[in-house]
Amino acid sequence: MNIPNHVAVIMDGNGRWAKAKGLPRKMGHVQGGKTVEEMLYAADELGIKYFTVYAFSTENWKRSEDEVSALMNLLRSYLTSGFKKAANNNVRIRIIGDKTGLAPDIQEIIADLEASSAANTGLQFQIAINYGSRDEILRMMRRAANDVKNGVIGPEDIDEAYISAHLDTADIPDPDLLIRTSGEQRLSNFLLWQLAYTEFYFSDKHWPDFDKEELAKAIEAFNKRDRRFGNAK
Ligand code: FPP
Repeated sequence: MNIPNHVAVIMDGNGRWAKAKGLPRKMGHVQGGKTVEEMLYAADELGIKYFTVYAFSTENWKRSEDEVSALMNLLRSYLTSGFKKAANNNVRIRIIGDKTGLAPDIQEIIADLEASSAANTGLQFQIAINYGSRDEILRMMRRAANDVKNGVIGPEDIDEAYISAHLDTADIPDPDLLIRTSGEQRLSNFLLWQLAYTEFYFSDKHWPDFDKEELAKAIEAFNKRDRRFGNAK
């Protein structure tokens, strides 16, 4: 079995999972958090090297104050316990997204976790928080414009390599497989540049019900695809 080097996930369906059980939406996120932790270990066991999850988008701020604060508290709690434990077990953790838009204490926790896990050689775990692909591209373009303005580079130096190296995912290879749960088939502003040649797998399971078997099924489907890369017709 060919194991994809980088798997990225749009974790969808927490709300629907909770609703189906007559629970508040927040409980769907709580259960979804547990799934993230489990999948981290499952991905590592399967031999996946890079695992990226879409935890909070730039659009998610529009949700109710109650839900936003529940999600932020959940992230706080995982960044200081479950993910910290993973970092102590050789997992490298990086946050993609605009960190400057996050609460100062979360920014501090992230800086500590990223620094303390920077040399870890095990699973490379990326968490997208306050992430939007258009926002990421916009920030990269402003930086490029400034580099040109300040004479650091010329316009001809802006090539695909420059762009890749100045996105939040610099140094992280593009995903080989993207999984979206809960039956939706949209990108929702996730990794637009990086997913150019990625295979997509859509699972009907809500994220809180996603498990190792479903991850294995996605990899099986990935193996059956005829990968043509850049010269695909
Ligand atoms: C989508 O479900 C999920 C989210 C917007 C948030 C994802 C967050 C988690 C899984 C938990 C915390 C994350 C970590 C990394 C610990 P939805 O609420 O849009 O579901 P719905 O479409 O059914 O309403």
